[in-house]
Parts: sequence; C-alpha cells; structure tokens
Amino acid sequence: MDTMITKRMVPVGSQFLSDVLDGLQADPKFLSSKYFYDEKGDQIFQQIMEMKEYYLTNSEMEILEEQSAKLADFISSGGDGFDLIELGAGDATKSIHLLSALLQSQLDFTYFPIDISSHVINDLEENLPKKLPELQIQGLNGDYFKMLQKAKTISDRRKVVLFMGANIGNMDLAEAENFCCDLQNELSPNDLLIIGFDLKKNPKQILAAYNDPAGITRSFNLNLLDRINRELDGDFDISNFDHYASYDPETGACKSYLISLNEQRVNIGDETIHFNKSEHIYMEISQKYSLADIDALASKTGFTPIHRFFDRKEYFVDAVWKVD
Ligand code: AVI
Repeated sequence: MDTMITKRMVPVGSQFLSDVLDGLQADPKFLSSKYFYDEKGDQIFQQIMEMKEYYLTNSEMEILEEQSAKLADFISSGGDGFDLIELGAGDATKSIHLLSALLQSQLDFTYFPIDISSHVINDLEENLPKKLPELQIQGLNGDYFKMLQKAKTISDRRKVVLFMGANIGNMDLAEAENFCCDLQNELSPNDLLIIGFDLKKNPKQILAAYNDPAGITRSFNLNLLDRINRELDGDFDISNFDHYASYDPETGACKSYLISLNEQRVNIGDETIHFNKSEHIYMEISQKYSLADIDALASKTGFTPIHRFFDRKEYFVDAVWKVD
C-alpha cells in the first residue's frame, strides 16, 4: 500500500515523484519518457500515430498486414505448440494480423499480451475474442519481466516474444543492450524474438516525424509537465517552455528536449527547482538503427538474426532473432 498521503493526494515515496525529483535536480536535467503515457498522453500519442509525418506506424502496419503469413511460417518452423508473448501489446491493431495468420495456419498457441496498463489488458481480453473467436488469450498486467516470468510458470512451451512499435528506440544503446540481455536470460535456446526497429534514413524525414508543424509532439512533451502539476502538486507554467527536437545522423539518436524560456522557479510539492534561461530538460530518445547496428545488437546479447521483414519503402524492419 502507498504510504502517507500529503496535500492534493501526492503519495509520499511514489516512484513517479522520486524519479521526477532525481531528474530535475540532476545537471543536466532530464525526465523519463516512460511517464508520457497517462490518459492524456495516450490520447496525444494516438494523434501522433495519425500524423502524416509520423511514418513509423504505417510502415510497421504495412509489414504486418502484408507479410503476416510469411511471419507465421517462420514462427511455425520451430514446431507447433508455443506461447506468443507480446511486450507492450497496446490495442494489438498490428499484431491482430499476425494472430489471424497463425490461427489460419491452425497452429496451437496461446497469446499472452503483457501491458503495464490493466485497462489495456481488460480491453484485449474482452474484445479480441470477439474478432478472433478461436484465439486462446491470457492477458498479463504488470512489468514486462515479472509477467514474462509468470508466463513461464503458466506454461513451459516454446516462447515467441513480440516487441514491436520501435519501443526499443526509447532506450539508449546501453539500455537497449541490457534489455536484450535480460530478455535473452529469460528465454531458452530456439525461442524467438520479433523486434521492431526504425531505420536510419534521410535525417530531414526523421526530424519531421518528431517536430511536426502542428505542434502535436510539442504537446506530447509538455503534457509531462502538466502531469507533474496534476499528480505531484507542481506549478509549471508550460508557456515558459518550448520543445526542441534534434537528430544526429552519426549516432542515430533522435532526442527531444524542453527548453526553459526564462529564468524561473518551479515548485513540486515541497521542493523548488531552479531553471536558468535556456536550460534544457532532456525528455526522450528515439534511437534509429542501421541493419549492421541491429545485427551487432543481436550478437552482443545472445541472439542470432534469422530474418528481416521490411516495409516497401524500407523505413522500418521487424527483425526475427533466435535465442542462441
Ligand atoms: C513509442 N515510441 C516508439 C515513439 C517513438 O517514435 O519514439 C514515441 C514518440 N515520441 C514522439 N513521437 C513518438
């Protein structure tokens, strides 16, 4: 149970509060993009996915819509009887194409969507069987690794893990390496990982996806300051911050920042944070990969790349890796 409650219902000792204070008391300042996704953040992310500049969603959707039968063949070549575990399943609008192809091939599998949001899991358990009546589904609500361990206690069948949507891009290279190592440690030889990467491409095009003229990505970032105001008793004046996105073609790092437009003080609960004029808060990385970067990540973390599925424009890849 959360401990004492202070004014305006801020749980003392909440992870959100301590992460925010750690980040804003650091030099340089940072906030974690994992906190973007409250109810408002989810809505803004939906709008991002519909933006014409944000090519990632359509690219991966095209792969799943058009190549799920072939992906299902790859999965079934490891033998029948497996568990399909999706990390960060969301509304499964992309994976439904794969699920449907697997069912059409009459494969024996259970779908374990994992998501940190109980709302997402309840929705999937209620609605997916209406669309795919033969689907065996068991939703798991919680942390990816804890839920992966739980799935292993429920069944000892071969595991096929899906980690799509370029979510790996929201980790820097060192974090991505640790994440893949941790995942590999939970899996057994011949288990599969299907993992989505946004590819390095014309820097102008990448930057446009994170710097849209309508300012949707800007509000996505600023919403985290609003969320701090709402949930942690903060008093950010968001008109005092601007959004800045950058892309470095040498490293493939696309980064978002919020810039303080004035010297200012912001209170969060009992703490006061000082900002210099033009000081930045580092908000998010969306790392882009070359094919060589992807293969190097696989081999460093105990996987062998076995196939790549591209969209027609080759903007995006869903890579299939086998556990060594
Ligand atoms: C969820 N994630 C893969 C998105 C991305 O492209 O990094 C989040 C996002 N941030 C700004 N626009 C979209």
